[in-house]
Amino acid sequence: MGSRSVGIAFALALAVGSAGSARADAIDRRIDALMKRMTLADKIGQVTLASIAEVFEYDKVTSGAYGNVMNFGTAKEFAKVVEAWKKSRLKIPLLHGTDIIYGNRTLFVPPLAQASSFDLALNRAAAEQAGLESSAAGTNWTFAPMVDLNRDPRWGRVVEGAGEDVHLASCLAGARVAGFRAGGLIVSAKHFVAYGFGEGGRDYDAVEMGEPFLRDHVLPPFRAAIAAGSQTVMSAFNAFNGVPATANHHLLTDILRRDMRFTGVVTSDWGAIDQLANHGLSPAPLDLTVATFNAGVDLDMASYFFLRNMPQAIAEGRVSKARLDEAVRRVLRLKFEAKLDERMHADPTAQAAAQAKLDPRGRDLAVEMGRRTTLLLHNPKDRLPLGDMKRIALIGGLADSPRDHMGPHPALSQMEDIVTLRKAITDRAAKAGASVDYLEACGACRFPADTDDAVIAETAKKAAESDVILAVVGETYEESGEAAARADLALSAPQVKLVHALAATGKPVVLLLTGGRPMLVENVIDRVDAIAMVWFPGTYGAIGTAEVLFGDVSPSARLPMTWPRSTGQLPLSYDRLPTGRPASADDKWTNKYIDVGWTPRWPFGHGLGYSTTTVSAPRLDRSTATAADTVKVTVTVTNTGERAMRETVQVYVHDVIASRSRPQRQMKGFAQVDLAPGESREVTIPIRVATLGFHVDDGSYVVEPGAFRVFAGKTAETEAAVALEVTSGSKVPPWEAPIPCVEPKAAAKR
Ligand code: BGC
Repeated sequence: MGSRSVGIAFALALAVGSAGSARADAIDRRIDALMKRMTLADKIGQVTLASIAEVFEYDKVTSGAYGNVMNFGTAKEFAKVVEAWKKSRLKIPLLHGTDIIYGNRTLFVPPLAQASSFDLALNRAAAEQAGLESSAAGTNWTFAPMVDLNRDPRWGRVVEGAGEDVHLASCLAGARVAGFRAGGLIVSAKHFVAYGFGEGGRDYDAVEMGEPFLRDHVLPPFRAAIAAGSQTVMSAFNAFNGVPATANHHLLTDILRRDMRFTGVVTSDWGAIDQLANHGLSPAPLDLTVATFNAGVDLDMASYFFLRNMPQAIAEGRVSKARLDEAVRRVLRLKFEAKLDERMHADPTAQAAAQAKLDPRGRDLAVEMGRRTTLLLHNPKDRLPLGDMKRIALIGGLADSPRDHMGPHPALSQMEDIVTLRKAITDRAAKAGASVDYLEACGACRFPADTDDAVIAETAKKAAESDVILAVVGETYEESGEAAARADLALSAPQVKLVHALAATGKPVVLLLTGGRPMLVENVIDRVDAIAMVWFPGTYGAIGTAEVLFGDVSPSARLPMTWPRSTGQLPLSYDRLPTGRPASADDKWTNKYIDVGWTPRWPFGHGLGYSTTTVSAPRLDRSTATAADTVKVTVTVTNTGERAMRETVQVYVHDVIASRSRPQRQMKGFAQVDLAPGESREVTIPIRVATLGFHVDDGSYVVEPGAFRVFAGKTAETEAAVALEVTSGSKVPPWEAPIPCVEPKAAAKR
C-alpha cells in the first residue's frame, strides 16, 4: 500500500470509528431518555424472559411485564406476541430467544459431529445458515453455541459441544459465534461454567474443580466466544465448588466480568433460579432472587422470580436500584445495538413464507457437512469404499427413521424433508448400477423386549444374499442431548446380537453408527469389516455420507473426542497430566486398570481416509524462542496411496519441566491439506509461544522458560517430536492471557 492509500485507509478507519462511537453515543442517549420514562415494573420486565406456554399471558407483553420472550419458534406464534407488544406503552423491542443449535428449517449434523470436520469455515457457514433461517422468521437470539468443554461422553450433551480439546473448542466457538451473528442472531455462549464436568457424567450434577484447571481448560472457549462477539452468556445449572453457578458471585462477577472483561448480558438457564431451592440455597423465592441478581445474573429465564420478587427486594434494599439499572441498561444496549426495533415491524406474512421454504444454499451446505463429518474409524481390509458391490443389504430401522436423523434438537425441520440414509444410499447405489435391499430388522433394536430372535435370524438369512451388508445401529434421538446421560456406552444387546448374526453370514459387514457421542464397539469390532460414525445426519447429511461410502469423496473427519474401550475408563482425554508411575504393561504398580487397557480404542484426532499418508517429523524455524515469539512448525505430508485425500496435521506441545505438572500433550494448532495420489506438501503451522503457558493459583497466566517438546502427526498419540527451548517467559493478569485460536489483535478489539 502506498503512503497515500495508507492515509486514506487511516482516515476511513477514523471515520468508521467515529461513526461507530457516534452510534454508541446515540444509543447511550436513547437509553438515558428511556430509563427516565420507565417505571420500576418496566425495568423488571426488561430482566424477565418469559417462555411460550400453554396459557401464555399476552397482556403481560402489552403491560411490559414480559420484556423478552422465548421459544415462539414459528412466525405465526411470534406474530401474536408482536400484536400484544404493539399495544405497549414504551414499545421496547423484545429479545426473542430460541435454541437454534445446529440448524432450523435445514438441519445439519449436530455440533460435535460438525466439530469432527475440523473445518472452521464450514462450521461458520452452517451457523450462518441456521441464523438466516431463524432471523428471517422472527427469532433474534439463539441460546448457542454451547462451548462447554467435556471429557466424558456419558454426558448426553456432548452432542451439543465441540469435544474435549481446548484449542479446537476455542476455534469452533469463534467460528460458530461469527456464523450465528452473520446470520442475524444475538448469541449466547453457554453454560457458564464447567457444566460439562458434572460428576459421573450425569446431567445437572455438581462440579468440583481447581481454578487453574478452570482457567486453562474451561474458560478459553468462552473467552473465544466473547472475543468473536457473543453478546450474552448463559449461566449453568450445576453447582461449582459448592455454590450453584446461577448464584455464584465469584464465577459471574469476579471471573466473568472482572477477569474475562465480559460487558454483555448474563441470562440464567431455564428455571434455574427456581431450582436453587433444590440446591438448598433457600426455600424463599425472595432470597433466591436476591442471591442470583446480586451474583451477576441479569435476566431470569422462565423462573419469573425477578418479576414476582424484585419489587420487594428493591423496597427492602436487598437489591440496589443501581444494580437493577445496570442490568436494564445492558439489556437495552443489546437490543438497540442489534437494531431489534426494526425487526419488530417485520411483515409476519413474509416471515411465515420465509419459514415455509427450504433454502437451496442450506441443502448444499448440509450435504457438504455430511461428506466432511462421515467419520471412518476402522477399515482394515479396505472394504470401504463400496466399489463394485452390486447387491447391498441395508439393515436396521435407524437407516429409515427421519425423526432419529434429526437428533435431539429438531428446531423447525420437517420429517418429510429428511433424506434418510436409506434413501440417500439407495439413490447413490442406483447411479452405480447397484441395488439396495432394506430390512428394518428389529427397528432401532434398543430393547431386548422389542427384539424377536426369529426376526434377526430371518434378516441375516436375507442379508446373506447380498455382496455387502451395511448395518445401521447406535443411538436414537432420545438417547442423546440434554437429560440423556448414559451409565453404559455399549451398543444395546439386540444391536450386538443383530451385528453378530449378520457377521455370521460370512458377508462383509460395514457398521454405520448413528448417535451423538462415542459408543463402545469392543464386542463387535472383530466381526465387522469397517466402522463409520454417521452421527444424526439431519436433513441432507446422509447424501454426503452416501457419497463417502461409494468413494466419490474420501472421508476426512477426525475425532474431536477420545473414543473409549470401556465406560469405566471415563472420563478420558488425551490432554491428561502425567503421573509418577506411567502405565506400563510390565509393571503392575503403574497407572492403569487391571481389567481393561489404559489406551483408548481410538485417540483424539483419529480418522481414516481412503488413501494412506505419512507425516514427517516436525521441523521448527527456530530451536529457541521467547514468550513473545511465534514458532513455525513444518512437516512434509505425503499421500502414499492411490486416491486423493485430505489429511489433518495436528501439532501438540508438552511443557516438559514446569512448576506445575503439565498435560502430556496439548494441541496448539492444526491444518488440513488436500493431496493427490503420490503428492507431497509442506505444511507450516505457526504456534504462538504465549499460548504455551498456564494459569497459577492467583489467576495470573505464566509462560515459564525451559524445555518443551513439539509433536506433529495425525492423532494425539503421535510420537514424532522436536525440542524447543523457551529462553524467557512471561506473567500476565488473566484478562491478558492469550486466547487459543484468537489473534491478539482480535482479542483486543472486543
Ligand atoms: C438448557 C439450555 C437451553 C434452555 C432453553 C435448558 O434446559 O440447559 O441449554 O438453552 O433449556 O431451552
